[in-house]
Amino acid sequence: MSLSPKQITTRFNHAAATYDEVASLQREMANALLSRFEKGSPESTLQIADLGCGTGHLLGQLSQRGFLKLHGFDIACNMLATARSSMPNGSTKFTEADLQALPVADEHFDVLFSNAAIQWCDTERAAAEIHRVLRPGGRGFISTFGPRTLQQWRSVFESHGHSSVHSFESTSQLTETFENTGLRLNQVETRLNTQSFHNVKDMFDSIKKLGASNATFQRKPISKSVFQSIHAEFQRRLTSAGVLKLTFEAISFEAIRSYSKPFEATRS
Ligand SMILES: C[S@@+](CC[C@H](N)C(=O)[O-])C[C@H]1O[C@@H](n2cnc3c(N)ncnc32)[C@H](O)[C@@H]1O
Repeated sequence: MSLSPKQITTRFNHAAATYDEVASLQREMANALLSRFEKGSPESTLQIADLGCGTGHLLGQLSQRGFLKLHGFDIACNMLATARSSMPNGSTKFTEADLQALPVADEHFDVLFSNAAIQWCDTERAAAEIHRVLRPGGRGFISTFGPRTLQQWRSVFESHGHSSVHSFESTSQLTETFENTGLRLNQVETRLNTQSFHNVKDMFDSIKKLGASNATFQRKPISKSVFQSIHAEFQRRLTSAGVLKLTFEAISFEAIRSYSKPFEATRS
């Protein structure tokens, strides 16, 4: 998979004003990560970062719960501006940065969150960076999307000669990549969610408002006539089923940085 960071940034900058209208699934995924984190009765003084923080929902929740040292990172400055303006207090830091190359020292954070963001990244680079900035014993609470995501969308576009959905990685691919960096994965969970639409335009609008259309439209432009034919195919499916469904496969896990350096245990 090769996604252009510039294109991703542009899409999310455009989506910043509309993202919260359509991000109910992403909210649920973020809240599930928070619940896992809270089970450990964490201290309020932990250094916590949210990688790909978007409009700041997760940081807002952490702030309301009394966590004091919060830092949000995102590549899209408009997302960060929305996040900053929605924070209940001004102490949260925000930095415009690529989560694959964070401008922070090694072992800086006790806890990392990243919700619905690493699917836009090279997983090896993202995992290596999460390992680098977590202190030994630190924990990352991560969620992303798996290969069944947007399967209906993929099949219609592919039947028109367009491979329009980028390849989301499977649980086993993610596990292997994260564990190769020295992170230990815990509680890897998969949940299928279905979003239903009662007209084709709403479905297209929803994907666009999320900023996700760069996951779905390949760079090669789709001609007007092919797009009309794709639209008509979705309309046929809607007419025969009464509803259009899009599947999202949410994958979540905890990534724990061990106290020993990777491979150190094999040396005597
Ligand atoms: C689907 S949104 C999720 C936002 C937020 N985490 C949430 O739960 O609502 C994905 C976010 O990841 C950001 N993003 C994508 N690639 C990134 C990267 N390489 N580094 C930092 N942020 C990135 C986007 O700008 C966007 O704000």
